[in-house]
Amino acid sequence: MSLIQSSMGRKLIMGVCGGVWALFVFGHMAGNMLILVGAEAYNKYAHAIVTNKPLLYGTEVALLSTLVFHVIFGVVLTLKNKSAREQKYAMTPNGEKRTSLASRTMIYHGTIILFFIVYHLITFKYGKETFVTYDGVQMRDLHSLVVEVFQQPAYVMGYVVCLMLLGWHLSHGVSSLFQTMGLNHPKHTPCIKMLGKVYAVVVTLGFISQPLYVIMTSF
Ligand code: HEM
Repeated sequence: MSLIQSSMGRKLIMGVCGGVWALFVFGHMAGNMLILVGAEAYNKYAHAIVTNKPLLYGTEVALLSTLVFHVIFGVVLTLKNKSAREQKYAMTPNGEKRTSLASRTMIYHGTIILFFIVYHLITFKYGKETFVTYDGVQMRDLHSLVVEVFQQPAYVMGYVVCLMLLGWHLSHGVSSLFQTMGLNHPKHTPCIKMLGKVYAVVVTLGFISQPLYVIMTSF
């Protein structure tokens, strides 16, 4: 039986793909911290990424394919879990161990995150293009676009809400991934749960600090 045909195999693929995104969002957040350093540092960093074509295309292919697998298998798993629960309730109406709210709502915050990713790409990657020159090299002035967007209170409010949902998804997702990969032991469960929460808080607060910095230094 292939990995895709077994439910454990699908859960493993879904988890590993989620793990790739969990690592990516951390790297993306850390790189974007250069907004706090200044326009030149941020623009040069972005320029170095987009001009390194193997890195750029490799990352894009990896992110797109892992997102597709994560979403498809996440939806399949949710539907299968739902029908298994309904059958179980039909036989035994009580006694089932209650899972956390975060784990039961993964599909809902996941769907909002999906729309957020598309909107985020439209705003920044495919957004307004202006250019700036440093040391004789012309590059996209992404910093001024980011500042312009983060000066809009409605955008920042929506952005913060989506990032908090991402944090919620990560807080359950990271600890669940350890379990999926068989890296759990009852003795370590509290530690793994704490790791998921800390990871989620670091990523979320890191991202949120960027529009807050822009707002505080703009007015
Ligand atoms: C930045 C984007 C995302 C990250 C970092 C992420 C990360 C994760 C991780 C690490 C897990 C745990 C996997 C496991 O249990 O082994 C997970 C679970 C899940 N994700 Fe995501 N995810 C993202 C986007 C999405 C999207 C767009 C959707 C759906 C539209 C989604 C739906 C789900 C579902 C349904 C589960 C739980 C499945 C279950 O165990 O019942 N995720 N995610």
